[in-house]
Amino acid sequence: MRKQINYINEINRLRKEKNAIILAHYYQTGDIQDIADFIGDSLALSQKAAENDADIILFAGVKFMAETAKILAPDKKVLLPDMNAGCSLADSCRAEDFEKFIRENPGRTIITYVNTTAEIKALSDICCTSSNAVDIVNSLPNEEKIIFAPDRNLGNYVQKITGRDIVVWNGTCHVHEEFSIESIIKLKTQHPEAKVIVHPECELPVRMVADFIGSTSALLQFVKNDKSVTYIVATEPGIIYQMKKGEPEKSFIPAPPKDSTCGCSECNFMKLITIEKIYNCLRSEKPEIIIDDNIIKEGLKPIKRMLDISGKKGK
Ligand code: 13P
Ligand code: SF4
Repeated sequence: MRKQINYINEINRLRKEKNAIILAHYYQTGDIQDIADFIGDSLALSQKAAENDADIILFAGVKFMAETAKILAPDKKVLLPDMNAGCSLADSCRAEDFEKFIRENPGRTIITYVNTTAEIKALSDICCTSSNAVDIVNSLPNEEKIIFAPDRNLGNYVQKITGRDIVVWNGTCHVHEEFSIESIIKLKTQHPEAKVIVHPECELPVRMVADFIGSTSALLQFVKNDKSVTYIVATEPGIIYQMKKGEPEKSFIPAPPKDSTCGCSECNFMKLITIEKIYNCLRSEKPEIIIDDNIIKEGLKPIKRMLDISGKKGK
């Protein structure tokens, strides 16, 4: 009979032995969030990747996040347990199409959401995340015209708040464009006391019924400080694990997708990562993120610029 592996014990042993840290995004499953050395939104995870003493960073998240970590820490080994953990939003913006878009919209500062490939970052002036997109745009002089890519919903949201001249790339995330406004309204009728909390990647009708709009960490902070007891949560439901952990007496209802027969409010890319894959990846130190030196050099500039602006804002 084959001996059962205790994955958690083995992961703990290996990370100590190899001086590795596990960084996990809030959209990971609860068991992975529980074993992570650090859990965060994409901004906090990139800040942590830039500052830690580990030799190995294992990323429990998606490829663009692991690539950002590699760009920030090129001397460390960065591992992603499943290389198929991509992102539909990053996929919606290919380098050759984006170069054409930049040529068609000359003279604009290029701001890209970190949900992009390393090649797109290398074409950008500044990166942003959903936590700091408004601050990044506001940090630029008023007359500066902007290209924002790849998420059209976050781009339109930032444009509305800042009132700036922004041309927005037409990309979306398959999770956040799937929420059904009709089902959210129906839920709100059934739970009139509930607050609707929404990630800015959601479409306009969903953002219009929101009591609060924010990044994953902003949503977590909101439910912590707010006095309500019930929330309809319009983002990937992995975040609800941390919400429940922090506020066990409150109720969190995941916003339903348009197609009630699918599990499409879950990010199938995020959910490719499992405890077993984390163990195998730590053990074999594969798959490893490898990025061309020149892309690292060019990609670092917009990420560093973002971290500097966010650092000055104390975020
Ligand atoms: P955050 O910036 O809130 O972590 O969101 C990342 C993401 O992938 C949203 O879909
Ligand atoms: Fe990409 Fe959407 Fe998944 Fe976030 S939730 S990683 S934007 S596909």
